[in-house]
Amino acid sequence: MSIRIAGTGGALPEKKVTNDMIAQMVDTSDEWIRERTGIGSRFVSTGETVASLVARACSLALERAGREAEEVELLLVATCTPEDALPCMACQVQEKIGAKEAVAFDLNAACAGFLFALHTAWAYVESGIYQNALVAGGEVLSKMIDWQDRGTCVLFGDGAGAVLVEKCADGGILSFVQHSDGNRGAVLSCGARPIANPYFTGASQERYVRMDGREVFSFALRQVPAAIEEALAKARLAVEDVDVFVLHQANRRIIEGISRRLGADLEKFPMNLEQVGNTSSAAIPLLLDMLYREGRIRSGQVVVLSGFGAGLTYGACVMRIN
Ligand code: UT7
Repeated sequence: MSIRIAGTGGALPEKKVTNDMIAQMVDTSDEWIRERTGIGSRFVSTGETVASLVARACSLALERAGREAEEVELLLVATCTPEDALPCMACQVQEKIGAKEAVAFDLNAACAGFLFALHTAWAYVESGIYQNALVAGGEVLSKMIDWQDRGTCVLFGDGAGAVLVEKCADGGILSFVQHSDGNRGAVLSCGARPIANPYFTGASQERYVRMDGREVFSFALRQVPAAIEEALAKARLAVEDVDVFVLHQANRRIIEGISRRLGADLEKFPMNLEQVGNTSSAAIPLLLDMLYREGRIRSGQVVVLSGFGAGLTYGACVMRIN
């Protein structure tokens, strides 16, 4: 028993922000950003929320799967940028799309969040608890970015992606691996609402994303190929058997480095970061949605998903498309 992707959806805010627009705010240039990251533009919220973007992506995924919202049994939203602490984003999405029979909750594993949510859905379906799940990743990172910090503000974008997965007898997800390394959490961090009560006298927390870019870069180059190889070994497949690698879209140079380390043709690593930047937990489902719509993911193909991010968290998943 496994799960297959029955439909995908994606949603972006209306406002497109080009590299040249960012170069008017901080000391950077279109040339530097493109050369060092591969990013050309990103979409930034002018009022769209995680819940509104995820709801749009979920509705599209349901429509493409030919399913009604009332049929959804589990609704998982991966996000590290919820607007509200309560209620969770998944419950807000549930209300917006009318998935009134679903059990809904959020999950935060930063840029690996969608992958971890997909693994959670797989475990629920495999164990027979639910028959299907809407799994989404959505972020409005622009509210956590220090727009004066050129080391981070050029990288991130807002958006959401979703997949409807359902039980299947053959194919679908073949293997999964997940890892977390909390000892290295400081290399990519962001404070949330600080402790503020009459008894607390400590210092206030950093409110914006802070990142040691080089550390994250080398962690991704080391751990992502290893996780992919581990997942492929579990599925008894080799790198050569893979048709498409759908990787977290953080930096073109990271993806090129991973393809070299795996010895796999870069052609097999589609990217959308040129258009949308790094959308954290939305990156993998947004790219999946694009590939399904363009017919670049087809029945019978072996597809690898792999993500990495703050935590540090990372993982990989092998699927046979059906
Ligand atoms: O989802 C996971 C989240 N994060 C990531 O995946 C990020 C992974 N890391 C990266 O993508 C890269 O490390 C960055 C794109 C963040 C930075 O690229 P880099 O090639 O590692 O640059 P660097 O940090 O080594 O900095 C090189 C130079 C520095 O100047 P000096 O000290 O050599 O004079 C930086 O100050 O580039 C400078 N720099 C910039 N210059 C123009 C840093 N950011 C910018 C910028 N524009 N936006």
